[in-house]
Amino acid sequence: MKNIGILFGGRSVEHEVSVITAMQIIENIDKTKFNPIPIYINKAGEWLISDSFLKFESFKNSKFDNPRKIILSPNYKDANLYLHPNNIKLFTKKDLDSIDVFFPALHGTNGEDGTIQGLLELIGIPYVGAGVLSSAVGMDKIIMKDIFKANGIPVVDYTYYYRNTWMLDKKVILEDIESKIKYPLFVKPANLGSSIGISKVKNKEELESALNLAFSYDRKAIIEKAVENPREINCAVMGYENEVEASLCEEPLGWKEILSFDDKYVKQNSKTSKDSNKNKNIPANISDELRIKIENYAKDAFRAIDCRGNARIDFLVSEEKVYVNEINTLPGSIAFYLWEGRGYSFKELISKMIDIAIKAQKDKENNIYTYDSNLFNRTQFGTKIKK
Ligand SMILES: Nc1ncnc2c1ncn2[C@@H]1O[C@H](COP(=O)(O)OP(=O)(O)O)[C@@H](O)[C@H]1O
Ligand SMILES: [Mg+2]
Repeated sequence: MKNIGILFGGRSVEHEVSVITAMQIIENIDKTKFNPIPIYINKAGEWLISDSFLKFESFKNSKFDNPRKIILSPNYKDANLYLHPNNIKLFTKKDLDSIDVFFPALHGTNGEDGTIQGLLELIGIPYVGAGVLSSAVGMDKIIMKDIFKANGIPVVDYTYYYRNTWMLDKKVILEDIESKIKYPLFVKPANLGSSIGISKVKNKEELESALNLAFSYDRKAIIEKAVENPREINCAVMGYENEVEASLCEEPLGWKEILSFDDKYVKQNSKTSKDSNKNKNIPANISDELRIKIENYAKDAFRAIDCRGNARIDFLVSEEKVYVNEINTLPGSIAFYLWEGRGYSFKELISKMIDIAIKAQKDKENNIYTYDSNLFNRTQFGTKIKK
């Protein structure tokens, strides 16, 4: 039995989405092999543990039994949970004394962006999903597009600015954008998700307020050419290095201009919506030719950022062209619905993601982290260090 520490919540606008993803993982994880231990990071960034975190009801009612603050140490191979502030090991039962694999079920900032991954790297215990580099690159819509472009993966035209430059002279920036990209265009915070802070813009006035909004969320904003009347097609990719496979494609339906937060999470699950089945097509109704193109670009995008685990790559498709819009290194609901049609149940998907995490950690342990240089005895180091 392996203890799986499921990290969720987090300091992110996608906090609630993460709670749902984590609850789905807890519900579907193979209980004959894994013991899920929910570690909830609240909006203030405190790490908490409580048995009540195993139930979605607790979050719905905001009622938690005895939540206790814990600490995770950055010490190598110390995957114990310590009670805060007295540093007592949390678990006393032998089979519950430490975490075997971490499963970050966090979306967006402070979780899907390499920060949590950095801590888990230091601990040296397997963790599910993308590593530090691919998480950080996948989170930053500017760097992500730079890398896709360098790898021949089609992206829309874009430019970007810093908040500090914007504050200094808005007029210059507005003119600069207009000289580079034609309306309609999209303005987005560089590091966010779930369509928050994103605007479609048709003129200069809208552009100014869109930039003010984007800069309220992030110090960088990306401005992109809008794809006119696009179809959105998403495809997940799972694996490690060159062993990757693509999922079915989905097409979200029934949205206008921007696939909004509600389109993504509310409408399709709404019990009152008569059209609840019509909010997406799985598989997407596209030609085999287009599907193969999308699957290949999805795999290319996954590999371009050295991703691992299970990511969802989102496309914008116009009459003429296919563009990669973004990669989500920890997609909502771990995109389980795209894998069922490929023969993986939700349970098998979770197990597979855990297997990849263990494999990647083993691979990393083949690296040498010391270098016997005898440096101290071979160097004079000037006169500053006394003998
Ligand atoms: N360049 C674009 N052209 C047309 N629609 C876009 C463009 N960029 C974003 N959108 C719309 O806005 C939505 C959210 O943008 P996206 O870049 O996916 O951000 P997020 O990370 O918040 O999901 C997309 O799903 C799409 O509907
Ligand atoms: Mg998106």
